[in-house]
Amino acid sequence: MNKIFVTRQLPNEELVKKLEKFFIVDVWKGENPPSKKILKARSKGCWGLLTMLTEKIDLDIISDNPSLKIIANMAVGYDNIDIQAANRFSIKVTNTPDVLTKSTAELTIALIFMMAKRLQEGNLAIRNNEWGPWHPSWMLGKDLDNSKLGIIGPGKIGHEVAKIAKSLNMQVMYYGKKTKKNFPGNFVNLENLLKNADFISIHLSLNKETTKFLNMDHFTMMKNDAVLINTSRGQIINQSDLENALKKKIIGGAALDVTDPEPLPATSELLKMQNVFISPHLGSATKKTRLAMASLAIKNLIELNAGRKPPNMVNE
Ligand code: DGY
Repeated sequence: MNKIFVTRQLPNEELVKKLEKFFIVDVWKGENPPSKKILKARSKGCWGLLTMLTEKIDLDIISDNPSLKIIANMAVGYDNIDIQAANRFSIKVTNTPDVLTKSTAELTIALIFMMAKRLQEGNLAIRNNEWGPWHPSWMLGKDLDNSKLGIIGPGKIGHEVAKIAKSLNMQVMYYGKKTKKNFPGNFVNLENLLKNADFISIHLSLNKETTKFLNMDHFTMMKNDAVLINTSRGQIINQSDLENALKKKIIGGAALDVTDPEPLPATSELLKMQNVFISPHLGSATKKTRLAMASLAIKNLIELNAGRKPPNMVNE
């Protein structure tokens, strides 16, 4: 039997038992990701790896492992894997698309609501004993109805966000390459989107072109009460530019489910700002979705082991 290393504990033991029918399975049981040294040592001699986005699979690990045939990432994003190195050594890389589309889109909409209704600021005011009698102009937020949502990166998740937003009567516009028919809204250029949107949501995958894609030049084009939402990858935003834009009130606020780095240090300026809401990378964090992601990663391993093409190869 081929050997595989699973870099974190899977959502349940049944999944491991399933893997054990086909492979010799080594699971890293630590609460935190394995260190580089451990990752390298435990990957040695493996035919396959089942990895999370927290594990950096670089040229060093790949080139040190001639028996490696597949890296099955339990995530839709695969920026943690050096695809060029995998290609060089003919290693297949797979991801887990589709199964997390709805939960990530739901979280995005939750963040939009959170910011529009100023829920964090209201809650903080209560905790700080600043809640006085009802006041006609205290803590006024925004209606989503008839507001403008700009989606940067109209892929599957962006499309799902747009569908929900339309049901809330938001006007949706997109910037990016059209990947699906019937997007509910208009495609516009980036400047147009930035200048007009009340909420701007990022749904790009992280690569060389999208690293620090959004910077001060973009923030200065945005409305000064616009809210930025990011549920994709933290590195897509130039975070120090964002901090400055928020400090100088160039934009209205931000809700970030992803940051650079993760976890965000407790000393981060972003955590001191009332109009910034940070959640700890929860886009796919539902029981159903995580189970589906793990099952799909396992399927990719089993299919290749059976001599068939894994269904979710990203480096064909
Ligand atoms: C992914 O799958 O890339 C998500 O970020 C995981 O939550």
